[in-house]
Amino acid sequence: MSYLEATNDLYKQAALTPDVGLCCTTNPVWQLPGLSIPTIMQEMNYGCGSTVSASDLVNDPKVLYVGVGGGMELLQFAYFSRQKGGVTGVDVVDEMLSACNRNFKIAEEENPWFRSEFVKLLKGDALNLPIESESIDVAAQNCLFNIFKLEDLKKAVAEMYRVLKPHGRLVMSDPVCEQPMNETLRNDDRLRALCLSGSIPIKDYVKVLTDAGFGTIEIRARKSYRILSPNHYPTEELIHIESIEIAAIKDPMPEDGPCVFTGKTAIYYGGEPYLDDKNGHVLLQNQPLAVCDKTAAALAALKKPIHISESTWHYDGGGCC
Ligand SMILES: C[S@@+](CC[C@H](N)C(=O)[O-])C[C@H]1O[C@@H](n2cnc3c(N)ncnc32)[C@H](O)[C@@H]1O
Repeated sequence: MSYLEATNDLYKQAALTPDVGLCCTTNPVWQLPGLSIPTIMQEMNYGCGSTVSASDLVNDPKVLYVGVGGGMELLQFAYFSRQKGGVTGVDVVDEMLSACNRNFKIAEEENPWFRSEFVKLLKGDALNLPIESESIDVAAQNCLFNIFKLEDLKKAVAEMYRVLKPHGRLVMSDPVCEQPMNETLRNDDRLRALCLSGSIPIKDYVKVLTDAGFGTIEIRARKSYRILSPNHYPTEELIHIESIEIAAIKDPMPEDGPCVFTGKTAIYYGGEPYLDDKNGHVLLQNQPLAVCDKTAAALAALKKPIHISESTWHYDGGGCC
């Protein structure tokens, strides 16, 4: 059995018998006016963060969500889009699609504004999406891509890139790990499917996205996720897994390389009212400006009175590339 078949099998079981501890998120349950998330959807929250952000969802976007789980994030996307077929969910596991569909019926009872027809569910594979090219404004996946081995991860990202319109965005939540993992962990199909042994360092994850052509990357959150300890897993050292929320925007690739925002801020503290780096950045005296890592490095190289903060890993817009 390949690791992809093992993954399908695991999520078939997770659809038939909801498993509250399967994945894990510290995100609070959403409290928004008129939104009730059915208990079964919360129990089937197999994500590791959130991909739904109001700021991505202006102008009635067409949303694609790959790897549907119990449907909670599809319902959250539908909360903002509220139109027939505004959100499309794709999953390769029949039982997961059926469970998601059943959960939508419960959501209809709890949410007067919601109709199941707001979400179109399709059987399909993240590696070969049944979606037209350049038809999607916001594509999302939560806790699926980390399962893929590198070549499959590249295919999955290329598929998301293909279906997005120009300037469309891919929003994701996934585990990442900065430590090396041994081959026993890496090759354990079940641990991989459980989102425990496929994760890669943030730098490598970002490289897959920028190699696919995404010109702008935003790291929006970074949190502690799991510990693999020798008591419970085949490892001789503690391995710390984190999860990140990250958006990749299908902007053209800048000539000098991608803009990757990790939450750095520049503040000019010199004697002039402002500093113009003659490269598109004007820093007003003592005013913070969110900058991408490339600009942060270029400003630092000027050797001017500019304070560059560390990455907060919490970028929420307003930046200057
Ligand atoms: C870890 S769960 C995450 C579910 C959901 N995103 C959430 O946050 O609750 C992974 C999901 O991806 C689906 N899946 C697994 N392999 C897939 C593939 N190759 N293509 C599409 N969906 C897949 C599983 O059936 C499951 O619904």
